[in-house]
Amino acid sequence: MKRWFKYIKPYLPFFILGPLCMIIEVVGEMMMPKLLATIMDYGLGEKDASQASGFVKWIYEVLGEGRSPFVIAIMVGMIMTAIIMMLGGVGGAYFGAKASVNFAADLREDLFRHVQKFSFANIDKFSTGSLVTRLTNDVTQMMNFMNMLLRMCLRSPGMLIGGIIMAISLNPTLTLTIAVVFPLLLIAIAIIISIGFPRFAKMQEKIDALNATVQESVTNVRVVKSFVREDYEIDKFANSNANLKKAGRNAIGVMIFMSPVMTFFMNATTIAVMWFGGNMLIDSTMTTGDMTAFVTYITQILSSLMMVTMMFVGMSRAIASGKRIAEVLDEKLDITDEGISEEDAQRVVNKGDIEFKNVSYRYYKNSEEKVIDNVNLKIEAGKTVGIIGSTGSGKTTLVSLISRLYDVDEGEVLVDGVNVKNYSLFNLREGVGVVLQKNVLFSGTIEENLRWGNENATMEEIRAAAESAQADGFVMAFNDGYDTVLDQGGTNVSGGQKQRLCIARALLKQPKIIIFDDSTSAVDTATEAKIRTAFRTSLKDSTKIIIAQRISSVIDADQIIVINDGKITGVGTHDELIGNNTEYQEIYYSQMDKKEAN
Ligand SMILES: Nc1ncnc2c1ncn2[C@@H]1O[C@H](COP(=O)(O)OP(=O)(O)OP(=O)(O)O)[C@@H](O)[C@H]1O
Ligand SMILES: [Mg+2]
Repeated sequence: MKRWFKYIKPYLPFFILGPLCMIIEVVGEMMMPKLLATIMDYGLGEKDASQASGFVKWIYEVLGEGRSPFVIAIMVGMIMTAIIMMLGGVGGAYFGAKASVNFAADLREDLFRHVQKFSFANIDKFSTGSLVTRLTNDVTQMMNFMNMLLRMCLRSPGMLIGGIIMAISLNPTLTLTIAVVFPLLLIAIAIIISIGFPRFAKMQEKIDALNATVQESVTNVRVVKSFVREDYEIDKFANSNANLKKAGRNAIGVMIFMSPVMTFFMNATTIAVMWFGGNMLIDSTMTTGDMTAFVTYITQILSSLMMVTMMFVGMSRAIASGKRIAEVLDEKLDITDEGISEEDAQRVVNKGDIEFKNVSYRYYKNSEEKVIDNVNLKIEAGKTVGIIGSTGSGKTTLVSLISRLYDVDEGEVLVDGVNVKNYSLFNLREGVGVVLQKNVLFSGTIEENLRWGNENATMEEIRAAAESAQADGFVMAFNDGYDTVLDQGGTNVSGGQKQRLCIARALLKQPKIIIFDDSTSAVDTATEAKIRTAFRTSLKDSTKIIIAQRISSVIDADQIIVINDGKITGVGTHDELIGNNTEYQEIYYSQMDKKEAN
């Protein structure tokens, strides 16, 4: 509760004013039937105004004898009540909407902020589809409930209690008829809470699954098409959709079913009132006006009971969503700047030395196998280092530990002799640039994308970085040059062009350590060689780590690291390794063979 109050607090006045306005409406609702009864009884002559007391007597004295001025006066009163009620209703709706929409907007923003701070490990825990649902649909569910709650929290109980008081004041015996529906209502609420809540939770899960399917299939529509898998994807979607439909029917069905049952009992109660009240009318123990008013009050009581049950429906839905939102908000950020000292916060990477000391890492903390297994390694500042190893051997994982995309389980990673945990994340990542293996460009112009590396770069600097990455040529060949707009994910440039833009983006940062994770796999060997030559000047002092599949990409590196199954099996120059490392030899000769075969 405390958690949600944080989002309520800034809009507290709206949260209070909304329900208060609804009270005005309730008072009006209570007055209306009474006024109607007065018009009927005195207008029809069933009661004599000259014998009346209080309000009626006062009107009678002011307006004098006769029925029409009396009737007109009450009518004017009714119209005014209606207007005040309307103002109350409009106010309640306005403040309620304002409060709930703002509540939702702040909550959504906080969620988004929190998700942005997620480490790779945090992200691994939630599926993207689920995060999207939680940020959108779940927040909307809570907003809808908030809105309903604000409009109904005082109105429904107010109507209920007010209605009962008014009904008792008119005819206590006849009021007993509603005693029958009360236990039924309690049963309904019990059913809603016990059955509804888990079913709504299930339904949100199915929305997750549906979102995941849509997202995967729409984002990767090109792959789907190239494998002619449209029908398969359609089936997959139909399946998720059917699951959601079923979960929705299960959840909402129970609730919908409640509604006609409740209506039936409402109508039955009204008939009972008519029956007993009718007899009282015949016996003249009740007037027509009072009878009409009584029926209205009973209807109000019953419909407010209905609203209370609806509120419980909304609540069980909101609780299900609230839990899911809380899961995201409660997800402990495992890599943060929290608790680092003032001195650490100031520290920047200024040389580029790297050292791994007995480093081990595994993605699944309870799995036996280590993905990185007791690695010891020293890389000197300014050197070019190649990393070679079969697929899945742990190359990407190893370098991820340097910029703390993941945190080591055992041992430590040092940059410039200082544990990476003793840098602020910002300074560490400013100092360690990574061109990720699974890289993307964002929608926007090429220039905007490159500026991710350095917001304040001049156009000359941008072009220089692009030149080093061998990107300037093809960018300039586009009609709009650097203003060329890229599609989401950078799908409107070729694979190799995309890679070169990603390299340029990282170069602009001029980090002390720069990691290229298979970043030139889609670039032809000649261009790749040019990029490597360019690095000698553009990244003169930076430590360059190049992960590659092709030996040719790392052949002239100062140091080549061979990794197998998370362990380092060889370190040395090409000439050294070709002489003493069987694994390196195998890779080398297999690639040579291919070359010769071509
Ligand atoms: N996010 C992740 N969650 C769980 N396991 C992972 C994750 N990323 C990688 N792995 C596993 O860790 C191991 C090492 O993966 P890694 O990506 O480091 O290999 P790699 O050497 O970079 O391979 P490649 O040459 O194909 O890029 C693999 O067995 C892989 O399945
Ligand atoms: Mg990899």
